[in-house]
Amino acid sequence: MKQPNTLSLIYARSKNHCIGADGKIPWHLPDDFAHFKHTTMGKPIIMGRKTYDDHKTALPGRLNIVVSSQKNYPLADGIVQAHSLDEALAIAGANNPSVFIIGGVSFFSAALSHADVVYETVVDVDVEGDAVLPVFDFTGWHSHLLHDHPIDERHKLAFKIYKRSRNPVS
Ligand SMILES: NC(=O)c1ccc[n+]([C@@H]2O[C@H](COP(=O)([O-])OP(=O)(O)OC[C@H]3O[C@@H](n4cnc5c(N)ncnc54)[C@H](OP(=O)(O)O)[C@@H]3O)[C@@H](O)[C@H]2O)c1
Repeated sequence: MKQPNTLSLIYARSKNHCIGADGKIPWHLPDDFAHFKHTTMGKPIIMGRKTYDDHKTALPGRLNIVVSSQKNYPLADGIVQAHSLDEALAIAGANNPSVFIIGGVSFFSAALSHADVVYETVVDVDVEGDAVLPVFDFTGWHSHLLHDHPIDERHKLAFKIYKRSRNPVS
C-alpha cells in the first residue's frame, strides 16, 4: 500500500462497535460531526461507495475520493472515483502529506495496520446495525481523551472522542 506521510482513520462507533445501520449513521451528534469536520477540513478524504451514498454530496473543503468497483459510478461534481484503496491513496497522497479514511468497515479494517492516527468516537449506546467494525487492538498505541461529552439538549447520547497515535506525540 502506497502511503501518505500521515494516514488517519476517523469514525464513531457504538459500545458494540457498530458504525452504521441501513446505510445511515445511527445517531445524531452535532458536536461529533463538528469534530469530524474540523479534523478533516482541507485534507483528502477516502470513503467507500456506501458511505458516499449516505449523503451523495461532496463534503466541502476536502478532496473527496469514493472507492467503487463499478465503472463510472455516478458521483456529485468534484468527487473523484477510485477503483481500489491503493488507487485512492495514490490519488490522495500525490500532493498531500495527510490523508483521512472516513469509512466504511472494510476500509478501516484494511487500513488500520498502515494507519498513524485513529480518531475514535465511542458513543455510549449499543446498536443493532449492519456495519460493524472488528474489535481493533490498540495495545501499544498512545491514546488521548480529547473530549468527554455528556448528554445535553442537542445530544441524546454521551460520547467520548479519543485520538490514538501509533507513535508518541509531543
Ligand atoms: N459512524 C461512522 O463513523 C461511519 C463512517 C462511515 C460510514 N458509516 C456508515 O457505515 C455504512 C457504510 O459502510 P459499509 O462498510 O457498509 O460500506 P462502505 O465501505 O462505505 O462501502 C462499501 C463499498 O465500497 C466499495 N468497495 C469496498 N472495497 C472495495 C475494493 N477493494 N475495491 C473496490 N471497491 C470497493 C464497494 O462499492 P461497489 O459496490 O460500488 O463496488 C462496496 O460495496 C453506512 O451505514 C454509513 O452511514 C459510519
